[in-house]
Amino acid sequence: MRDAGVPATAVDVFTRFYGLLESGRTGMIPEQEVDPLVDVPYLGDLEVDAAAGAQALAVTAVVKLNGGLGTSMGMDRAKSLLPVRGERTFLDLIAAQVLAAREATGARLPLVLMNSFRTREDSLAALAAYPELAVEGVPLDFVQNREPKLRVEDLSPVEWAADPSLEWCPPGHGDLYTALVASGALEALLAAGFRYAAVSNSDNLGATPDARIAGWFAASGAPFAAEVARRTPADRKGGHLVVRRADGRLVLRESAQTPAEDAGAAGDIGRHRFFNTNNLWLDLRALAAELERTGGVLDLPLIRNEKTVDPTDKTSPRVVQIESAMGAAIEVFDGAAVLEVDRSRFLPVKTTNDLLVLRSDVYETDAEHRLVARVGAPLVDLDPEFYATVAAFDARLGQVPSLVEASSLRVRGDWSFGAGVRVVGDGVLAAEGAPGQVPAGATVGPAGVGGADAV
Ligand code: UTP
Repeated sequence: MRDAGVPATAVDVFTRFYGLLESGRTGMIPEQEVDPLVDVPYLGDLEVDAAAGAQALAVTAVVKLNGGLGTSMGMDRAKSLLPVRGERTFLDLIAAQVLAAREATGARLPLVLMNSFRTREDSLAALAAYPELAVEGVPLDFVQNREPKLRVEDLSPVEWAADPSLEWCPPGHGDLYTALVASGALEALLAAGFRYAAVSNSDNLGATPDARIAGWFAASGAPFAAEVARRTPADRKGGHLVVRRADGRLVLRESAQTPAEDAGAAGDIGRHRFFNTNNLWLDLRALAAELERTGGVLDLPLIRNEKTVDPTDKTSPRVVQIESAMGAAIEVFDGAAVLEVDRSRFLPVKTTNDLLVLRSDVYETDAEHRLVARVGAPLVDLDPEFYATVAAFDARLGQVPSLVEASSLRVRGDWSFGAGVRVVGDGVLAAEGAPGQVPAGATVGPAGVGGADAV
């Protein structure tokens, strides 16, 4: 394995996590040790002075996490380079949203990507189409660290002669804090007069610059805040925020950190009502102070992520990737705050099911390039055997059907869609009849192709 030129702090962080991994620490958070999170202020109810909001936004930088590779969708490059509205990619829309917000508010609003060694080159090449994005003194991106993938058998660094670059991985988005400092980006932002960062996933087009949230965050004096949203039945299995009884701190509890016997309580969305959208607000001065105090090593929980060394080849050796989550830092900061936001600020694309809805006529873009839902999003469930990767999905669903009249769409088997297909009500395409072609202009309803009459 070659020397990756990793900064000393990143090595310290990795060493701490490696110790946790070796000791087999599970990081379980039992129900009896926590209380549900209640009394969360709601953005819609806040009174934020317009001038104070504008002032806070004027010293806010927009940071987008862009280091992931979208391996769950069979990708091996930045997910943000996927076309999502016509020809426009996530990155095109992010650039347009930031430029429009600058125009509307007069704020400088630098856009700063956190890239990984695998996403940097093509993401910066894509952003070169927007030279006006550059803000004096602020880099367009910083690069997160890299760490060795470990063999599952003995946790030694894996060797993969076929492509040695695959011996390395980015350490999850919890690396944000280490990478911000080690890259010099934190110092540059502070020196250029920026006080706050609004951080979000580049695959979440709902997280647009927002002066009211900036104003609320600045007035709160909190060092750190998370935008949270109400869990729905579809979020039952996911992570949620809890209050740790021992010290009253807010803690992110992921499904993997919930003991089996507490699964019922954790999945009770009336009890644990909020999840983390991963839209975070950071006071950069407080962050610099905390990192200084801890020598750059925040006490974040470990995530043990098992994958194959070549993510696109499921037969390649299994490896452990040591990761951490950015939102887990909520437990590290004294006085961390939460703010409830609407679901419209959380539009992630984790699967091709999400991608189909986002590409469809369920959404339109407004004058500031924000995605606005025209109707409630239908529940889409595509057969994982034929649609899980972007390549497989594009081959069959390159022609996006209309979903505005659909409550749901369930596809089993190998179906390809012609142009101008409409899904109506609870659309179903069953395995019987597949492989098949949905003809151009057809309707898909509860009884399959041409089944709209049954609605
Ligand atoms: P996800 O959890 O969706 O991960 O990332 P991912 O890497 O995109 O997808 P999979 O798991 O490989 O399928 C949420 C956000 O965090 C960023 C991603 O780019 C995305 O915007 N991210 C993730 C990083 O910036 N660095 C990382 O190491 C991991």
